[in-house]
Amino acid sequence: MFGGTVLVLDPIGAPVHGELPATWRDLGERRKVVWCGRGADGFWGEARAALDQLTGPVDIVAAGASVPAAMTLGREHANTVRSVLLVDPAAAERTVSAAEARAADAVWQQHEASRIRAMAEEGVRVRVIAHSWAGDGDRRDAPLPLGHPAVVERVKAEISHESPSMRGVLDMPAKMTVLDQPASLLQTVIGKILPSRKLRDLLHGTWLGHPVHPALAQFPIGMYMSATVLDFMPGRHKHAPGVLIGLGVLASVPTAAAGAADYTHATPEQRRTGLVHALVNSAGLLCYISSLWARLRGHRMSGKGEALLGLTLVSAGAMLGGHLSFRHAMGTNHAQDVPYVSPTEWSDLGPADHYPQRQPTRRLVGDVPVVVVRDGDDFYVLADKCSHAGGPLSDGTLRNDGELCIECPWHGSTFGLMDGAVVHGPATAPQPVFDTRVEQGHLQAQARTWG
Ligand code: FES
Repeated sequence: MFGGTVLVLDPIGAPVHGELPATWRDLGERRKVVWCGRGADGFWGEARAALDQLTGPVDIVAAGASVPAAMTLGREHANTVRSVLLVDPAAAERTVSAAEARAADAVWQQHEASRIRAMAEEGVRVRVIAHSWAGDGDRRDAPLPLGHPAVVERVKAEISHESPSMRGVLDMPAKMTVLDQPASLLQTVIGKILPSRKLRDLLHGTWLGHPVHPALAQFPIGMYMSATVLDFMPGRHKHAPGVLIGLGVLASVPTAAAGAADYTHATPEQRRTGLVHALVNSAGLLCYISSLWARLRGHRMSGKGEALLGLTLVSAGAMLGGHLSFRHAMGTNHAQDVPYVSPTEWSDLGPADHYPQRQPTRRLVGDVPVVVVRDGDDFYVLADKCSHAGGPLSDGTLRNDGELCIECPWHGSTFGLMDGAVVHGPATAPQPVFDTRVEQGHLQAQARTWG
């Protein structure tokens, strides 16, 4: 069972006799669906009035010409609207053929990146859920109609992510806007405690090419788990569990420090989940310290009980930590797909002498956004989507850090232009690089692969 309301802004108009399209009826039986067309005045007054009445959560669905209204309403009603789900948004501004829809939507998303981030900060997720694809059952020009089965399936999938299930339980902290204030405060405090960029790079794992926090987390968890196994094993293990718990408590210090460094660049959803993750782990740590104290005083039974409670809490914290990585993409490589979705052959990027000197310029290699930098007669092409969290490098700044580098405008990750290597975090994964050549005055690029 889904909760809340789906508000559909249909650029074609409200359905005849007020009935939902056949493809939507199944969803309409389980969830309130309000279907609005554009008013006679060309505005979406009916949708605005509906939103004023609704208490939320509301998911807005829009396509093509109704996308600007959906974005505005989502922003205006951030307290009520949970997500804005878009179909072929690029078709809002111009005619987009089905064949170019996916690439055009990628460009639209890049242009709207700041607005999408601002809405995310206010708790509204903006997702492009479907594109025209120029295949069977499609139409010649975008957008896909909102009654298209492919659109309905995607809407259901997005909404089902919010359903109350085990998955919903894990997602709950990310939606608790009440955590925003303490989460921001914690972020500010950590920023003050860790002002040194070198120290933060060390804790992020920039030097390792992998986030340090999950790598360290295995030590305290492994020690705690071993201690509990020994606690309940027959035989004489009088001191071993206490020693393991002591080592686990010590190992939790650098582990927490690395997690704190990552927290300084977390998005609002990550911040909320990260705060709960930290609180649950801290409660687990207190249980273990208390268990240790009890054992030192000879109270082994209560020490065992506290350790068991600590293990339960630390395991829940670890689960939330994994959820942060796999669901909220914290610490993952956001540019991993670039070599695989880029054309395998050389792509033309236009006349080489049209590129300004030392100025990041955004282009597309196939459907993949890239940033091009010209330095004299040398050209550097990197994936535009920052490996840390997807920020647009083409809006970044060039730096000379011993070599020519580009700094991401979102959180300051810095990459060498020559090989995409991370010079400063929070990114830990290198930025995908493209080989370049100039043929008959035209710049060409081809994704560089590992083999
Ligand atoms: S998106 Fe975070 S540094 Fe680029």
